[in-house]
Amino acid sequence: MQEQLSTLLAKASAELNEVKGRPELEAAKARLVGPNGAFTALMRQMGSVAKEQRPALGKLINESKARLQELLDARLRAIEEAELSAQLGPPVDPTLPPVEPGPGTYHPLTLVREELCRILRKVGFTVADGPEVETEFYCFDALNTPPDHPARNAQDTFYFPPGARFENVSKHRSDERYLLRTHTSSVQVRTMLKGQPPIRIVSPGRVYRRDTTDASHSANFHQIECLYVDRNVTVRDLKALLDYLFEALLGPGTKTRFRPHYFGYTEPSFEVDLSARHLPKVNKDWIEIGGCGIVDPEVFKAVGYDPQIWTGYAFGMGIERLAMTLYGIDDIRVFYQNDLRLLRQFTWGS
Ligand code: DAH
Repeated sequence: MQEQLSTLLAKASAELNEVKGRPELEAAKARLVGPNGAFTALMRQMGSVAKEQRPALGKLINESKARLQELLDARLRAIEEAELSAQLGPPVDPTLPPVEPGPGTYHPLTLVREELCRILRKVGFTVADGPEVETEFYCFDALNTPPDHPARNAQDTFYFPPGARFENVSKHRSDERYLLRTHTSSVQVRTMLKGQPPIRIVSPGRVYRRDTTDASHSANFHQIECLYVDRNVTVRDLKALLDYLFEALLGPGTKTRFRPHYFGYTEPSFEVDLSARHLPKVNKDWIEIGGCGIVDPEVFKAVGYDPQIWTGYAFGMGIERLAMTLYGIDDIRVFYQNDLRLLRQFTWGS
């Protein structure tokens, strides 16, 4: 019996050394310790052994069993290690110098944003910033957009749960909800509350809406907002600025047109279209680019400006749409996919 056990162990050890994967290991295990296994068969012979030999043999069998288990465990560990190193691939040499990344380029959205700001700075605008997490007052109430306005619907807007706290975003009223801003127009309100007219600001930034992504929609995108507050500001000033801005950005031959529209914060309000047929990939006569109008007196009242004295214009538009027009990009998603083959193609003026 003793001899049989040690032969079996030697055989098992040799056999297990050849085992490569988990299925093979399972099969070997069944051959050894399964109900019909060789070791199980040996153990059954215990019954026919003389009584006085049984304690010594029992000890031997237990030792052999433990040894067999060790062999099986060792093989399983070896298989696991082989699986892991197959997943990890060839070893990395951390002492190698990094691959030279080469000079970087600006993202096309950055290029267009900076160019818009540069053009507007030339005529006296300064860049203003505002938070992407906003409150209902700055995003809607102060902009004469009442609670039942569709833009405030939870279907269109990302609200935070009532308990959310943002210490660096000031609330106007303590019971206001936080949300991700749906437009950059909120910066108009924050800027006006901080100072006195005249005001001439441009504010680029990211905005968020519950939109399903497709070639022309994205749940977050970028806008640029302008606000001018002074005495005797008219629609003519607004039109002149937009004509100047788009011609400077897209080149001579660019035209703008206003279509009457409704926005709570401007009266009259317009949607702005631009025509840039001279650009190589433009195949439409008019491209809708944003909204604008003359600041509604209600907005001035909300920020404590006297609407009898102050007048102003405001406009907001999507940066992606402008960049797509300028560069002939037909799918908004490429801006967010970080494909360097695409991003490297853009430099200013190309
Ligand atoms: N906030 C508007 C939007 O996101 C765009 C807009 C319209 C901005 C009229 C304005 C404005 O400043 O006066 O669609």
